[in-house]
Amino acid sequence: MLLLALAAGCYTGGATAGPGDEIGGSTGGPGEQGAGGSPVDTFGEGLPCDVAQLMKTRCVSCHNSPPVGSAPMPLVSRADLLAPAKSDPSKTVAQRSLERMQAGTMPPMPATQATADEVAVLQGWIAAGTPAGACGADGGAVLATPDPLNAQIACSSGTYWDGESAGYQMAPGQPCIGCHASSRDDGLPRFAIAGTVYTSGHEHDGCNGVNGTSGPFQGAAIVLTDRNGHPLASLPVNGVGNFTTFSAPPAPFYAKLTFQGRERVMTQAVPNGDCNRCHTSTGANGAPGRITLPQ
Ligand code: HEC
Ligand code: HEC
Ligand code: HEC
Repeated sequence: MLLLALAAGCYTGGATAGPGDEIGGSTGGPGEQGAGGSPVDTFGEGLPCDVAQLMKTRCVSCHNSPPVGSAPMPLVSRADLLAPAKSDPSKTVAQRSLERMQAGTMPPMPATQATADEVAVLQGWIAAGTPAGACGADGGAVLATPDPLNAQIACSSGTYWDGESAGYQMAPGQPCIGCHASSRDDGLPRFAIAGTVYTSGHEHDGCNGVNGTSGPFQGAAIVLTDRNGHPLASLPVNGVGNFTTFSAPPAPFYAKLTFQGRERVMTQAVPNGDCNRCHTSTGANGAPGRITLPQ
């Protein structure tokens, strides 16, 4: 419920502008909410709860409505799953989904693959003739969750760095390694990887991110993996959303944000450990915005 309240808060536009507030030039960001696809408040519409839960856990970080990044279609309602597949209109999206899950090619690496039980849920639903269920926005386990990248620029935590104090809680949202680089010889810590996690995709520089150490977002972590999704390291998120490490795995390595069994993954190899250089408030170098907690 708190997650929902926070997400809803992003739409009020009531946040006070913070330092470095710039709107514009964003991809998939402010102003595009609700563009294309069915309204997000129908999440899970027509689906039995177990199928809806599977989509929520494994698929909607990309296949939301509208889809995120280069995912081709939404997977949030029964109508979405019964539509003809783009790659093969003789099959439904549900059938193609089952094939891709069984082949281990959806979700894409480095995402965690669906468990055998989860695959069995989709298989059983298709075998039963894809019956309608009632797990819509009004009840059941699935909440209506607009994608956090479709949010107005804001500061969800409502608190900012003071602009002066140095340490692990400094400068959330800013590119740490620009100042903390190994090429420098000024006695500052030399991070190999550093960045900040937020609850929504577009947050001001200096705004404190999620508190990963206590409260509702406790346990949020950046997991670094090899190309097959095998974990190599886990970086805890601190009280203001910052994460750091002094040593990176050998390249190529991959990154995802995990929280309560859900995740949002970066599908290309991490080209640079200064995560906030690309994951700015509006997104730079093709990144969609901030590194954002899975809903
Ligand atoms: C990290 C983002 C991401 C996640 C998570 C993800 N997908 Fe995808 N999906 C994509 C992208 C990108 C494509 C297009 C490229 C491709 O087909 O491989 C795609 C394509 C597909 C296609 C092919 C559509 C067609 O017409 O053939 C299906 C089916 C699919 N996804 C189902 C799923 C299911 C089911 C899940 C969850 C179990 C899932 N995906 C999770 C990103 C994602
Ligand atoms: C604009 C440059 C700049 C940026 C960006 C920056 N820092 Fe710093 N950082 C400094 C400076 C300068 C100091 C030393 C300040 C002092 O000692 O008074 C420092 C100190 C620190 C220290 C304490 C070192 C010690 O020995 O006490 C940590 C930890 C740290 N920064 C982490 C971070 C993290 C994490 C980020 C990104 C979220 C970050 N910094 C972003 C310039 C920066
Ligand atoms: C050079 C730019 C760049 C850097 C540096 C970078 N990323 Fe990304 N990131 C991207 C791009 C582009 C995408 C979207 C395409 C993709 O998934 O590969 C992305 C996507 C993501 C996503 C998924 C976005 C979503 O849909 O919520 C996560 C999570 C992520 N990155 C985490 C990280 C972490 C952690 C680091 C630092 C270890 C990092 N990124 C460094 C460019 C970058």
